[in-house]
Amino acid sequence: MTRLFIFLSVFIIVSCSQEKKETATFNSAKTLELSVDKTKHTLSVLHEKDSFPRNIPEGKKDWEFVGVNDWCSGFWPGVLWYAYESSGDIAIKEQAEKFTAPIRKIAFSPAQNHDIGFMVYCSYGNGYRLTGNEDYKKVLLSAADTLATLFNPKVGSILSWPEKKAEYSHNTIIDNMMNLELLFWAAKNGGDKKLYEIAESHADVTMKYIVRKDSAVYHLGEFNDETGAFVKGHTHQGYADESMWARGQTWGIYGFAIANRETGREDFLNTSIKLADHFINRLPEDGIPFWDFDDPKIPNSPKDASAAAVAACGMFELANLVKDEKLKEKYNTAATNFVRILSSKEYFSGATNQALLLHSTGHHPKNSEIDVPIVYADYYYMEALLRLKKLEDQAQVAVK
Ligand code: GLY
Repeated sequence: MTRLFIFLSVFIIVSCSQEKKETATFNSAKTLELSVDKTKHTLSVLHEKDSFPRNIPEGKKDWEFVGVNDWCSGFWPGVLWYAYESSGDIAIKEQAEKFTAPIRKIAFSPAQNHDIGFMVYCSYGNGYRLTGNEDYKKVLLSAADTLATLFNPKVGSILSWPEKKAEYSHNTIIDNMMNLELLFWAAKNGGDKKLYEIAESHADVTMKYIVRKDSAVYHLGEFNDETGAFVKGHTHQGYADESMWARGQTWGIYGFAIANRETGREDFLNTSIKLADHFINRLPEDGIPFWDFDDPKIPNSPKDASAAAVAACGMFELANLVKDEKLKEKYNTAATNFVRILSSKEYFSGATNQALLLHSTGHHPKNSEIDVPIVYADYYYMEALLRLKKLEDQAQVAVK
């Protein structure tokens, strides 16, 4: 208890002085350090085994946990891998390994849904990237094969939610774009080359039917699973079928950027650009989206910090891919702005609770996880901080 009090007091002091500095200059290295320290402290008070932080309900300070089958299980080990990447701290690495281990079974069990990519790539993918552990590679290759079992060649896309087959016989959701990275990776790293074709085809079908003419995206595309024909676009977590659900748009921005990086296809790059520009153009004044851009209750509507964190990562990726220097600057600046605002006292949790970020919205139509910390916001925030820090380090090297 005394240790916690001392930690929180130091954290408040450091955070407050940090906030004062932020008005002058935002310091990504310092914010990353604070985030790592906080993560390390949270680790020291977690007692759960084989379960994973997911959210902090309103009025509470501590993470609520979910089991390994929850779609969010991979994000906490992912946060720990990023914290290890940033600090080189072996104690954090050991914890990252500990929280990664239980996710192994997802790769070797029948596919429940498309979320295998989120669960396994954020945990084992980062773990393999940072350690080269050959066993992690085996898990990743098996996970890719498992995810590919959901591919429907008639439609040309992965069935995202098998449990919703009665409602929409074949459904593909925009979130699923984020799980193609696992397939592209596997095809390049000893897996079946067909995994590349599956990923490319899935991105193609998503671009054709789920990306709308108004430059927003449907959350869910419904297809006839026998003829492959597109039936209709729907929402699930957004305000309405034709509205712009903030996080869905960002899965599209980041997902199509990855699809371009892996295939070199210009149309995927242009799709990511189109979605990013539309997102930037419609942002509210403080630069962080409401949960859905078309909620009629705006401005009395919850924000979604997680969407801003994903957008930051997607736009840093996009900036790496575009050739034009002005465009590079545009997306690096937009991404940096998201990180800077998320690091301000409005969004950075400081000593408020165990999470890094406040104000995310999970599933508004179900009244679930409204305006609370959610673990994937922290995961993409850590990723964005690391990306920004690398960019700043590269710029310094270039100046020297
Ligand atoms: N289903 C993933 C999300 O909530 O964005």
